[in-house]
Amino acid sequence: MNDPIIEVRNIHKSFKTVQAVRGIDLHIGAGQFVALLGPNGAGKTTLVEMIEGIQQPDSGDIRILGKTWKGNEKYLRYLIGLSLQETYFIEKLTVWETMRLFASFFAIGKARCGEVLNLIALEDKRRAWVVNLSGGQRQRLALGIALLNNPKILLLDEPTTGLDPNARREIWSILLKLKEQSNTSLILTTHYMEEAEQLCDYIVIIDHGKILKEGTLSDLLGEIQDLPVKQALPRKITLDDLFISLTGRHLND
Ligand SMILES: Nc1ncnc2c1ncn2[C@@H]1O[C@H](COP(=O)(O)OP(=O)(O)O)[C@@H](O)[C@H]1O
Ligand SMILES: [Mg+2]
Repeated sequence: MNDPIIEVRNIHKSFKTVQAVRGIDLHIGAGQFVALLGPNGAGKTTLVEMIEGIQQPDSGDIRILGKTWKGNEKYLRYLIGLSLQETYFIEKLTVWETMRLFASFFAIGKARCGEVLNLIALEDKRRAWVVNLSGGQRQRLALGIALLNNPKILLLDEPTTGLDPNARREIWSILLKLKEQSNTSLILTTHYMEEAEQLCDYIVIIDHGKILKEGTLSDLLGEIQDLPVKQALPRKITLDDLFISLTGRHLND
């Protein structure tokens, strides 16, 4: 692989008695789409927030384009687009005003705001109050804001959790378009195996703060042929089967 865009080495993070992240390594290249797949409480948010520079690891090393957060905060902030597990907007602004507000932080012009509005398919909501958007529309707006400055790296924490299947597919189609049109690297966390399968070139399965398995979808599904998974009916083998064989639990339990 070329020089990694993101390099995480042996990071650990505890909260009092909870060891949220217990020795994780990641190497992510330019244009790579990576899923951190794991059930609730696996440590996904803690991990991405450390990469985002929002939380500090207790030990280990994080480098983004070869740089640590310490001393490079301003530079790195500009390279990363992010959307948190929950996004809070100012309810009394319209969609367009919200985009212009965030664009002003980066001195981004109206043309780029229009482009992004088109990408997130919210042109018809340009004058709508943010308070009146549906869950899927809010998530698309959050994604659009993260994309305003053409970030080299996009970090999305559970971008489709709680959305209905249609709204989920709309987010997927935006991300697939982005993948086609840009060289942005993406890390997304999810507990939906379909999301990891549809969007990502590389899947990292996490549980209890550790990586259980990682690889391409075909690597991971290939591996399961060798495992004694009990199946009532012949059917398509899924990442959930792999997770069950590794942990004895379903991904979404
Ligand atoms: N600020 C915090 N204080 C105490 N415990 C936390 C905190 N943040 C996360 N945890 C705990 O760390 C573990 C991992 O949490 P999290 O990273 O949010 O997992 P995920 O995003 O995969 O659901 C959980 O057991 C959670 O309760
Ligand atoms: Mg989380």
